Amino acid sequence: MNHRTIHICVMLLLVFCTSALFADASLVVHLDTVAHPISPTLHGIFFEDINFGADGGLCPELVKNGSFEFVPDPTMGWHRIEPDHNTDEVSVLSDHPLNENNPHYLRMTVGENHGASGHGMLNDGFRGMGVAANAEYVFSVYGRMGDAAEHDLNVVLEGADNTIITAIEVPMQGTEWKKYTAKLKATKTDAQAHLVVVGRTPGTMDLDMVSLYPTETFNHHGLRSDLVQLLKDLHPKFMRFPGGCIVEGRTLDSRYQWKNTIGDPAQRKLIVDRWNSEFNWRPTPDYFQSYRLGFFEYFQLCEDIGASPLPLVNCGMACQFNTGELAPLDQLQPYVQDALDLIEFANGPADSQWGKKRAEMGHPAPFDLKRMGIGNEQWGPHYVERYKVMAEAIHARYPDIELVAAAGPFPNGALFDYAWKELSALHADILDEHYYASPDWFIQHADRYDHYPRSGPKVFAGEFAAQSVGIASPNNKNTWRCALAEAAFMTGLERNSDVVVMSSYAPLFAHVDAWQWTPNLIWFDNLKSFGTPNYYVQQLFGANTGDALLVSESTGDTAGLFITACRDDSTRDVIIKIVNTQSTVRTVHIELTGQISPNATATEQILASDDLAAENSLAEPLKVSPVTREIASIGSSFDEKTPGNSMTVIRVHAAK
Ligand code: AHR
Repeated sequence: MNHRTIHICVMLLLVFCTSALFADASLVVHLDTVAHPISPTLHGIFFEDINFGADGGLCPELVKNGSFEFVPDPTMGWHRIEPDHNTDEVSVLSDHPLNENNPHYLRMTVGENHGASGHGMLNDGFRGMGVAANAEYVFSVYGRMGDAAEHDLNVVLEGADNTIITAIEVPMQGTEWKKYTAKLKATKTDAQAHLVVVGRTPGTMDLDMVSLYPTETFNHHGLRSDLVQLLKDLHPKFMRFPGGCIVEGRTLDSRYQWKNTIGDPAQRKLIVDRWNSEFNWRPTPDYFQSYRLGFFEYFQLCEDIGASPLPLVNCGMACQFNTGELAPLDQLQPYVQDALDLIEFANGPADSQWGKKRAEMGHPAPFDLKRMGIGNEQWGPHYVERYKVMAEAIHARYPDIELVAAAGPFPNGALFDYAWKELSALHADILDEHYYASPDWFIQHADRYDHYPRSGPKVFAGEFAAQSVGIASPNNKNTWRCALAEAAFMTGLERNSDVVVMSSYAPLFAHVDAWQWTPNLIWFDNLKSFGTPNYYVQQLFGANTGDALLVSESTGDTAGLFITACRDDSTRDVIIKIVNTQSTVRTVHIELTGQISPNATATEQILASDDLAAENSLAEPLKVSPVTREIASIGSSFDEKTPGNSMTVIRVHAAK
C-alpha cells in the first residue's frame, strides 16, 4: 500500500467515524446474507360490506332498493311524487313476481286524469346519487303493463336543487315481464342527485329491478373506478372477502351464502346487512346487501388488482357476539358442500357443475384459488369441532388448498391460547389473529412475533387497526399517530414474515355519510375518495415488500426507531424502512456491506407530519402522504436523517 492509498483509507475512515459519531444510531446491512424469504403474500386487503362498502360504495349502482325487497319496508329509499288525481296509486305486490328470489315489485297505477306531470316515484340513492358531467348511465327496469297498450315511462335525473340534469322517455309494452334499457348522459356534476320515474299513460305498470348504472367502471367490470384504483395502488398480494362478521350473520339464516350472490343480478336473493342495526349510535336501517357485488365480482376484482383471492365461508356458526346459533355437528354437510362447491366455482373446469357457472358469467379460466378461511372471528370448542369437520372434508378433496382458521376475537387471553393449542394440534395451516388496540399497544408489540414458534401454524394478521379512542368507538379517527404506530408494528411483521405470512388492515372502506365503524382505510362520498395516513403506511409496505429479509444490525440509540432491511430479488434493490416514533429528527448511519454498484442511485419516500392528530379528508386528501426524492448517487455508506414522527423507505438501486 503506498502513501497515497493509506492517506485515502485514513480519510475514508475519518469520514465514516465522524458521520457515525454524529448519528444517533447505526445500521449495518449485509446485502448478501438472507435471514429468510419474505412471504409473497405478506401485505393484502380485507374487504367487508360494512360502512356501505359494497352497495353505495364499490358497486356504483345509483338506485337504492331498486328491487323493492327492503322488507319490512319495501319502498324504503323511494318517495311518492304527489299524485295529481286521487285515482293515482302505488303499491308493492308479490303475486306473479319477476322470480322467486325477488318476490316484490312496484305497481304504479296512473289515473285517467293524472295531468301532464304524470304520476311516479323518486329514488334518493345511497345518501344521494353522485353523477358526473358528460358521464353516461344506463337506466334499466323490468316492466309489465296491465294492458296491451304502449305506456311511456319518463325517466328524469334531477340535481339536489330539483333541476333536470337529463331525462329520457322509455316506451314499454306487453303484459309479461320484460327488461327495458335506455342510456342517459349527465349534463352536470352533482353529488346529491336523485332519480324520478313517472308513468304518463293511464293504466297499471309493474316495475322491478330499477337501476341506473354508470357505463364507466374499472376494466368495464362494473365496479367504481376511483375506489378500485385506490385498492390497486396498495399493491395488495391477496384480498380477503366478504368479511368479517357478515360471513357469520346474526343468525345462521342471515349468514353470507355465496351461492345467492352469483348469476343474473335479478336472481340474487337480497339480505339485510348485519351492520344495519349493530350500533345504536349509528343505526342504518337502509343497509341491505343486494349482492350486485357478489362472489364472481370479488374474484374478478382480485384479478384486476393483482391480489390472490381469500374467500371465507361460514362453518355452521352465527356471530358469537350476537346469537351464537350453531348448526349441529351432524348437520354440517351443507356448509361443507358450500366450501367444496366454492373451490369448484373458482378453480373447476368450465364444464364442471360450478365451473360452468363461472364460465357462463364470462370467465372460463380458473381464478387460481389457493386459500380459504373457515369461519370469521370464531372461538371456543364449538369452533374447533366445526373447523375439524370442514378441514377434513376440504383437504380430503383438495389437499393443496390452504385453510385459514380463526384465533378468536382478541390478540391474547384464554380464548386465544385455547385456539392456538387446539388448532395447532389439528395442524391448521394458518391462524387468523385480530387486534384492534391503542396506538401504544401497536408500538409496544412490534416485537410480538420475534419469539413465536416457527414449527406450528403460520399467522395471518387478518384484522388490525390502531384505535385512537377505544375499540369500535364512533369517535375513533384515522390520525397520523395511529398510522405511525401501525407502521412501527408492521416492521415486526416484515421481520417475522417467515411466520406471519399475511396481514391486512380493517375495515377497508367507509362512506362519509353512511358509516357504522371507524377507523377505516379509505373514505369516500358519492363522487370522491381518499386514502387515510394509514392507507399510505399500507401502501409503502405493499409497494416495498421485498423478497428476502437481509441480516442487519442496529446499534446506538435505537429507542423509538423501528428498522428493517430487505432485498427485491428482481431488481436487486435494497429496501430499508425506518419508522421514527419520536418527535425529534433521528439520524441513522447506514452501511451496506456487499456488492453495490459505484453508480448506485436511490429513491427515498418519507411519510411524516409534525401533527400526530393530522388526518386526511375529502378536502385535503393528501395532507399526510409520502414525499418522494430521487438520490443521484448514494454509495455504500450514508447518513439518513429521519424526521420526527416519520416513516422513511429508502430503495437503494444497488445493481444500477
Ligand atoms: O372490521 C370490523 C369487524 O371487526 C369485523 O367484521 C369483525 O371480524 C371484527 O370484529
